[in-house]
Amino acid sequence: MRILVSGGLGFIGSHTVVELLNHKHEVVIIDNLYNSQISTLHKIERISGKKPAFYELDATDYEALENVFQSYDFDGIIHFAGYKAVGESVRKPLEYYYNNLVSTINLAKLAVINQVPKFIFSSSATVYGDGTSPFNESMPLLERTNPYGETKAMSERILTDATKANPGLNVVLLRYFNPIGAHPSGLIGEVPNGIPNNLMPYVTQVAKGLREKLNVFGNDYDTIDGTGVRDYIHVVDLAQGHVAALEANISGVEAVNLGTGKGTSVLEIIQAFEQENNIKIPYEIVSRRPGDIAVSYADTTKAKNLLQWEAKLNIKDMVRDAWHFESNLK
Ligand code: WQD
Repeated sequence: MRILVSGGLGFIGSHTVVELLNHKHEVVIIDNLYNSQISTLHKIERISGKKPAFYELDATDYEALENVFQSYDFDGIIHFAGYKAVGESVRKPLEYYYNNLVSTINLAKLAVINQVPKFIFSSSATVYGDGTSPFNESMPLLERTNPYGETKAMSERILTDATKANPGLNVVLLRYFNPIGAHPSGLIGEVPNGIPNNLMPYVTQVAKGLREKLNVFGNDYDTIDGTGVRDYIHVVDLAQGHVAALEANISGVEAVNLGTGKGTSVLEIIQAFEQENNIKIPYEIVSRRPGDIAVSYADTTKAKNLLQWEAKLNIKDMVRDAWHFESNLK
C-alpha cells in the first residue's frame, strides 16, 4: 500500500516508517521539522535500504497538503504530526489547539475528498484522564486534564464524527501508553528539544553525564515502591502496532490501546537501566509533578483480538536500546 505519514521524521513516526518499509509498503513523509531532523530521513534509508519521498511542510497548511494529494493516490494515512508536551500545552493552549486540531481536520478532509480508506491516528492514554487501570477502550474519555490531552480527545471525536458522515473513511485511534527505547541499530531514537519532559530521555542524559541527576517526582503514591507506575512499551513494538492497524480489516472507527498491559515504577526503571547498562543513575526524590497520576497501564485485549498484535519486547530491551541510541548520539 502507498501510505502518507505525517510527522514521519519524529520519534514514533520514523520507527513506524521503518516498519512500513520492512512490510514492503510505499511511504511518503510530510514533516515540518519542528521537532525532528532531516538527518533522520538518511538514517531511515540506512536501516531499510529505501528512501521514502519527503516533503517539508506543515500539516496546518491545507494548500501545501493538497499539492501532495495531487501527486499521489494514497491507500492510507498515519497522522503523527502534533505538539506533544503536556507542560508546554498548559502554557501555550491556543498553539496546541490550533496546531493539533487543524492538522487533523486538514488530513481527514483530504482523506474524504481523495477517498483514502484508512486513517490511523496517533492518540494517547492521556485521554483516559485519572481513571483506574487497566484502562480499556470502552471507558469514557477524560473530563479535564491538560490542553495536550484535550487535543487528543477532541481529535478522536472529530475523526469519529467524520467516519459517521463518510462511510468510505475507516479510522483507528491508537492510544499509546509510554513509548520508550530506540531502534536496535542505534541510528534512530528519541531526541527531545531542550530539557526532557519524559522519564527515559532524562535517564539516558544522566547516564551520558549531560544531567547531574534524575529528579523522581514523588515516592508517596499508592504503588509498589511509592513512585509512579506506567506501561512502558518499546517504540519498535509500537511501530509494528501501526502496521498491524493499517493491515487489519477495520470498518468505521475503533479505538485501540497500544501497551504491554504491565506496569513498571520509576525506581524499577532506574534499577533495570543500571543493571542492563552497568551505569549508576543518581537520583533525588522530589515533590510530585502536578497532573501526574499514580498508575497507568493498558488492557491489551482489543489489540490482540482486532489487530492480532501484542508487544514482544521487555523492559530490559527498552533500557538497553534507549542507552545504545543515546550513547551513539553526537
Ligand atoms: C513517566 C513517569 C513521572 C520524568 C506523558 C504524556 C503522554 C505521553 C508520554 C505524549 C511518571 C516520572 C518523569 C522525570 C520522573 N506523551 N518522571 N522524573 O507523564 O506518563 O506521559 O508522556 O504522547 O501523553 O502524558 O510520561 O515519561 O513524563 O513520566 O520521576 O524527570 O516518570 O512522574 O511517573 P507520562 P513521563
